[in-house]
Amino acid sequence: MRERILKVLKETDGYISGEKISSMLGISRAAVWKHIKALREEGYEILSVTNKGYRLSAEPENISVDRIKDALDTKRIGRNIVYMSRLDSTNEEAKRRADMSDGTLFIAERQESGKGRLGRQWESPRGGGIWMSLLLKPDMPLGSVSEITLAAGLAVCRAVGCGAMIKWPNDIVVGSRKICGILTEMSAEPDTGSINYVVCGMGVNVNIKSFPEELLVKATSLFIETGEKHDRDMIAARILNEFEPVYELLCRKGFGAIREEYARMCITLDKEVRVIYRKNETTGRAVGIDENGALLVDAKEGRISVSSGEVSVRGMYGYV
Ligand code: ATP
Ligand code: BTN
Repeated sequence: MRERILKVLKETDGYISGEKISSMLGISRAAVWKHIKALREEGYEILSVTNKGYRLSAEPENISVDRIKDALDTKRIGRNIVYMSRLDSTNEEAKRRADMSDGTLFIAERQESGKGRLGRQWESPRGGGIWMSLLLKPDMPLGSVSEITLAAGLAVCRAVGCGAMIKWPNDIVVGSRKICGILTEMSAEPDTGSINYVVCGMGVNVNIKSFPEELLVKATSLFIETGEKHDRDMIAARILNEFEPVYELLCRKGFGAIREEYARMCITLDKEVRVIYRKNETTGRAVGIDENGALLVDAKEGRISVSSGEVSVRGMYGYV
């Protein structure tokens, strides 16, 4: 029925009353209103004026699976794409459908319960960004899975340009604000430690025009940085194209093979940082990244190696 209402709106020049739509389609006016509301939630801009009715003023610029596929030059990554208008979280959807093939991409216009690390929330408004998760079935030791986050960070950095840098381990920042976050989750056999699957979720703020108050100081988007709208399909494809070779290298040779480039892109290095782990905190200078992707910090208590996981690393005087 939603499609039929849309068709009527598209074919009408100007306004059409709710009463007319209801009689044309044989449904109640309340039902018409309900469908109009649902269409608005999908991004259709529908004006409503008392005594005149409804008018379609703009259609959403949705993600196009075909355009992403056309721009891909990968073998496996993103060759299979599951697109949804809205859902709880693309990471959750990938986990629910983990029987799908290696490299499957889950991508949505909007997430209603987008997740960040440590149970935090990820703001994922309709049409504003690339909310996507890759389902991966890597052949690697369990302990190396967190390195996939680092590989994804490198791929996003290469793909978005704009002087993006990596805030170790999982944030991509432009200047001192975050433009992308990465959340990697996995399932493994408790007895053998063999990996069932890994879900690597990436949230890139593309066309978000403004953020809620509490995020203004630490979040940014490509739109905010450049003053123009960007093509989400092309950016998503670029990320996947960059990710595949980095991921393959990681699987074959380990993090050591991408460490140099990662370190070059890592804004955390050579900075005074606060390392926060649960209720403990220490400070020091970030001096390097080891063969396993751990951050090396010269702290008061000597050199410590900080592996990702439940740890937060912040700048001494701000977020970065
Ligand atoms: P860290 O704890 O590693 O220093 P962080 O504070 O950025 O980093 P993360 O868990 O990596 O925390 O990211 C989740 C946080 O990101 C949320 O708590 C929120 O503050 C912020 N956030 C939520 N949505 C967005 C968004 N769309 N863009 C940028 N930041 C966001
Ligand atoms: C973080 O910075 O803490 C990680 C944020 C990860 C957000 C992405 S958006 C796509 C995928 N689905 C989610 O629920 N989270 C990740």
